[in-house]
Formats: sequence, structure tokens, C-alpha cells
Amino acid sequence: MALFDPKRPAPPKPLTSTSSSSSTPSRISSGGRPVSATSLPPARGLQRPAMPATPPAAASTRPLTGLPLRESGSREFAFTASDFERVRTMIYQHAGISLSAAKQDMVYSRLARRLRATNKGSFGEYLDMLEKGGGDEWERFVNSLTTNLTSFFREPHHFPIFAEHLKKLSGRNPIRVWCSAASTGEEPYSIAMTVVEAFNSFTTPVSIIATDLDTNVLATADKGVYALDRVERLSPERLKRFFLKGSGSQEGFAAVRPELRRMIQFQQVNLLDASYPVKGPLDVIFCRNVMIYFDKPTQYKILSRFSPMMQSDGLLFAGHSESFLHAADLFRSLGKTVYELARRAR
Ligand SMILES: C[S@@+](CC[C@H](N)C(=O)[O-])C[C@H]1O[C@@H](n2cnc3c(N)ncnc32)[C@H](O)[C@@H]1O
Repeated sequence: MALFDPKRPAPPKPLTSTSSSSSTPSRISSGGRPVSATSLPPARGLQRPAMPATPPAAASTRPLTGLPLRESGSREFAFTASDFERVRTMIYQHAGISLSAAKQDMVYSRLARRLRATNKGSFGEYLDMLEKGGGDEWERFVNSLTTNLTSFFREPHHFPIFAEHLKKLSGRNPIRVWCSAASTGEEPYSIAMTVVEAFNSFTTPVSIIATDLDTNVLATADKGVYALDRVERLSPERLKRFFLKGSGSQEGFAAVRPELRRMIQFQQVNLLDASYPVKGPLDVIFCRNVMIYFDKPTQYKILSRFSPMMQSDGLLFAGHSESFLHAADLFRSLGKTVYELARRAR
């Protein structure tokens, strides 16, 4: 593995959605642990948290009937409004995700793959199988329906605020940070890079746990190997300090350095669970761009679980379009979608 050579940066490209099935090299000789190995703890069985039986009505532009949603001639499988309604209810109960009517085509194309993989002839047959237990297919069903868009230093204004907070906590040990919707890892690695920069060392008092519901994205995060176009917007200094560049058969990929990788513990956690296996008290929670998929009552439940896990001076980072005004008794906005505890002692 060569050191990252920032002299020949690839031309900038727009950030794209990360697909959990994106191809990564089978192995990068990083000199550290083999990045092909997945060291995730075994995924826990997906629990079924207590949720209302049905999701809130989709803001639908068409009546939900038993009719096919689109001319069946253009599709391999018939997909009726009642099939979509069943999917909506199931993913809402398992993951809290509220699918709007606009997501019908996305749901069809993602689940059609699962029908093929499980040799089911119709959505009804596939969904019946899940409702009767489904075994491992539940995990694949959920993984298929999550949206994993992310990037390194996404919403970059948060990272200097985070770094400043770390400096204020100087002397505290450990400082605990939870990245609660880590997706393919770009966010927790951005957090770890910020920590190293704040302490000017890879040895810090900060412990970082990064979790997600989707086991596919966690496996990608755990590998820490990215196509070069995912890292090309990072500064040459960051590339050099935090990445190794693949050569030969690994051409076109970069691996996070083992010392950065070792700073993060990855684990599957469903934010809908009644309690979280994350050790507190937490100094910082990143919960960005996931609440947007939940309705307000679900958001409130999650925030009410976060609140007692936090240090009294803890910070909660939310996504750019997420607002927790409806939970003002729990969290108070500091601006820029950063929140502190409402109960914080002044
Ligand atoms: C759009 S990505 C956001 C990634 C990152 N936080 C960011 O802002 O770039 C949303 C992530 O939330 C995860 N997710 C969805 N429902 C979840 C749940 N119930 N519990 C935990 N994670 C969930 C998805 O798997 C996905 O990786």
C-alpha cells in the first residue's frame, strides 16, 4: 500500500449516493489488519419494537386501492397499492421509516431484487413469507429499504463546533461520542479525523462508537475502503495523514489508515429499540439525516432515550433539515442544527 499521493488528484466529481452494494476491492495490503475482514459483532436479530400498527397515511396523490400502481406490462412483478401499503407498515414497525407515496418506484425496484433472490413469484408471496417469520430475509428487506446517502465531512460547519467542544472538555477521560446513523462510515471517520486534529495525535481520550441499522453499510464502514472519488474532496493534508492509496489491483481505492480505523467501534443498533447498548454518559451524539425518515412521535421517543444518556453539557448534532422544536422539553437549539439538553444546568 502506497502512501496517499495528493499530487495527482482526480478531477472533482459531484457527490453521489453510496450504494451498500458498491464494489470494493477484496483486499488492500494496508500493512495493518486486512481490510477485507469484517470484524463486526454478529448482527443481532432484528427486534420488533412496539410501534403503532400502521404508519401515518402516506401523502398520496392517488387513492390507495388494490389496482396495480403502474401498467403491469412494464414491470416484471405486479405491485399493487395494497402491496405498497403492506411494505410501508412493515418497514415502519421494524425501522420507524415512514415511506411516502413518492417512494413507490424505489420500493418496487429495491424489493424486486429480493423477490428474484428468494424465488418468489409475487410481492404477496414475498411479504407473506416475511410475516410468517422470514428468518434472515428480514435483515435483507430492511437493508434494501434504507437510504444511505453520506459523504466525508458532510455539513462541514458541524466539525469546527465539534472540535471546539472537544477542547472545552480537555481533562475529561473518556470523552464519549456516538455516531448513531453511521451509514458507510464517512461520517464516523470524519469525526475521528476531527478528533486526531484536535488532539494532534491518534492517541486520544475519545471513544467513538458508530452504529447503524443496516448491516450492509456497517460492513462497508468496517472495511474503511473507498473509491477515490469518495475521498477526492478531502484536503491533501487529510488524505496523506489518514489514508493509504491502493496500487496494482487496488488502483482506484483508498483505505483509512489502521490507526484511524482502530479509533472506532462499529455495531448494529436500531434507533427504534427501547434501549441502546451504548455506554454513557455521552459527550456528543451525531444523529444526522436519519430522523428525517421518522415521524414526529418516533423522533420524540428517540430523543427521550438520548436525553438521559448524555452528559449535562453534551451536544447533539442533527441533519440540515431536521428540527426538534417539538421536543423543546428535551433539547434546546444552539443554532446550525446543534442541540444541547433542555435540562442543562446553567
Ligand atoms: C441518509 S443516511 C445518513 C448518514 C449520515 N448520518 C450522514 O448524515 O451522512 C441514514 C442512515 O440511517 C440509517 N437508519 C435508518 N433507519 C434506522 C434506524 N431505525 N436505526 C438506525 N439507523 C437507521 C440508514 O441505514 C442510513 O445508513
